[in-house]
Amino acid sequence: MAGGLMRLKPVEESQAASGASKLNATLSWPHLVALGVGAIVGTGILTLIGVGADRAGPAVILSFVIAGGICACAALAYAEMATMMPASGAAYSYSYAVLGEIVAWIVGWSLILEYSLVVSTVAVGWSGYAAPLLTSIGFPVALTQGPELGGLVNVPAVGIIAVVAGLLIFGTRESATLNAVLVVVKMIALAVFVFVALPYFDAANLEPFSPYGFAKSVGADGIERGVMAAAAIIFFAFYGFDAISTAAEETKNPGRDLAIGIVGSMIACIAIYMLVAVAAVGALSYTEFGNSPEPLALILRQLGQPGFATFLAISAVIALPTVLLAFLFGQSRIFFTMARDGMLPRSLATISSRGSPVRITIFTAILVAIIAGVLPIDQIAALANAGTLAAFIAVSLCMLVLRRRAPNAERRFRTPLAWVVGPVAILGCLYLFFSLPTQTQFWFLLWNVAGVLVYFGYSRRNAAAAE
Ligand code: ALA
Repeated sequence: MAGGLMRLKPVEESQAASGASKLNATLSWPHLVALGVGAIVGTGILTLIGVGADRAGPAVILSFVIAGGICACAALAYAEMATMMPASGAAYSYSYAVLGEIVAWIVGWSLILEYSLVVSTVAVGWSGYAAPLLTSIGFPVALTQGPELGGLVNVPAVGIIAVVAGLLIFGTRESATLNAVLVVVKMIALAVFVFVALPYFDAANLEPFSPYGFAKSVGADGIERGVMAAAAIIFFAFYGFDAISTAAEETKNPGRDLAIGIVGSMIACIAIYMLVAVAAVGALSYTEFGNSPEPLALILRQLGQPGFATFLAISAVIALPTVLLAFLFGQSRIFFTMARDGMLPRSLATISSRGSPVRITIFTAILVAIIAGVLPIDQIAALANAGTLAAFIAVSLCMLVLRRRAPNAERRFRTPLAWVVGPVAILGCLYLFFSLPTQTQFWFLLWNVAGVLVYFGYSRRNAAAAE
């Protein structure tokens, strides 16, 4: 009985499944850095920076360093696993091969949560910047405000999900050229923010630096604050680099290029985010922009720069949908891989003639649109982070276990100082998880209880039959 739970899917099978069609190796590290930055830079830096400042005060700068450092360690483990097993189910597939079926199921179930809720979060972040632009061209205010601002449903967030899902269903894949253009748009927008806001830097805005202390603690208003509470939210800004590992097969020199791609885009993002965070909290008191749906634009307006504020908002509105596309696409791949293994109904994974799993995409889009329509951004992001943290812990564990179990297996990329980086990733992710709002931890637990019921009620039998 217990043997079934620990069932492993041989690594070769994952490799064979992905090796059927060999792609041309045309990419090198600058492409990969662009790919990474394209999927990583999004609502985290544009919107959640406000939530982070509300939770930690000016010390949100420190929260960025902590979340970025932990994420970078997990990214290294991820790179090692991705180059060993370029499988479409990512963390789920690695866990199935290394840690056993039940762990793989929990990781897959967490990934479904992660990918869905990232889409919801980014859609709500998008609407924060889009709403003022929409009202300025005549949209009724009532239709552009989500529940956070007293509205009933966040209509722009629902709308953008419908548009992106439509693109996916009609077979759109991320195009490298479009992605590169939009990466430049995002970078220019953030650079403009830094150049405009930094001259207004006033050290008085950094006082008191850490009003809520380091570890998570509950304030008088019932909200959990502190540097770590903010780091647990800001963590959202750093992930998305799995986009790079999915390009492993198309990379000329994977060992070198993937390492530079993943580490390079992490370092680039940490550096950019730090500059933006210092410019933001230095220019305006955090009490004025924390919890704003469009904090960076608000700061520029408060500084008397409405033109730059509009430029930033337009750039965000144009560039953010690529993050939506990446995660909605990733979601369908996870579903697809789990359905292929018999863990989810096979009918879900039916591919249309245009090459996209239509039913899954529509089903996911409706679900994430409902969530984006009615829930506040901080709660959705926190739950997305919980799912991601679970997956990162599993990937880091897989990396360490395989180092022991198969020390001589070919590794095109080796995590440097694996026995330091791996444990730091695992313990760091655990600390971030416990720094999430207690309510989020509860919801995550509930999600997994439901998942385990589905596993024992359906998936276990069907996965065995699929062998
Ligand atoms: N890192 C991505 C973002 O911030 C998910 O939007």
